[in-house]
Amino acid sequence: MAIGIVKTVMAAGLPRFGCTANVDMNHFDGLVQALKDALGPCSGLTSEDVDVKYLQKLMKDYDSSDEREWSKFAMGDASRAYTRNLVDEGNGKSNLLVLVWSPGKGSPIHDHGNAHCLMKILRGNLTETRYAFPEGKEEEGEDIPMAVISEKVHKENEVAYMADELGVHRVSNQGSDFAVSLHLYTPPNVAKGGCHVFNPETGKKSHVKNCGYYSAYGRKL
Ligand SMILES: [Fe+2]
Repeated sequence: MAIGIVKTVMAAGLPRFGCTANVDMNHFDGLVQALKDALGPCSGLTSEDVDVKYLQKLMKDYDSSDEREWSKFAMGDASRAYTRNLVDEGNGKSNLLVLVWSPGKGSPIHDHGNAHCLMKILRGNLTETRYAFPEGKEEEGEDIPMAVISEKVHKENEVAYMADELGVHRVSNQGSDFAVSLHLYTPPNVAKGGCHVFNPETGKKSHVKNCGYYSAYGRKL
């Protein structure tokens, strides 16, 4: 179910010059292309040469208020806590996803596979709860409840940054309607190797191989 109701309207009947189509790129498509371009010259295979500030600015500058621009990716499913919808793979250097969050639901606490994570709120509010990375004693049998570092509500159009050196986090939708966010992960370590999820009561982690997608490029899988 596309929650935005109106699907992206592709421009039809535009003049074409030679063999180059005159594409009427809407702003969301423009953002996807700009992110891809920004990552292009970088290796993208390590986290070191990625200009996070610039990527963050591109995402911040995009005004998400016209849902028609991204609604074809925003497939919500009330039977799930959230859906992961693939938008773009940035020439193999990133993973760009639209996540649709069911009301009152959230993610488990997770890490980010040594990658940068940028999260822009396209619609609604999302609550991000950060925890300190467990120190490892938990794996030796001790149960150590995880310590909350911070809790913040990110509002529509805001961009949050997360990485393993800042801890681990849980994202939740505490509103009464679906919320939608755009996530850029670079390099795409989690898509390739999975991530860890953490038990807040014991601090113990478990590996999740593949989170999978609900849809890819606007088509339900
Ligand atoms: Fe995350």
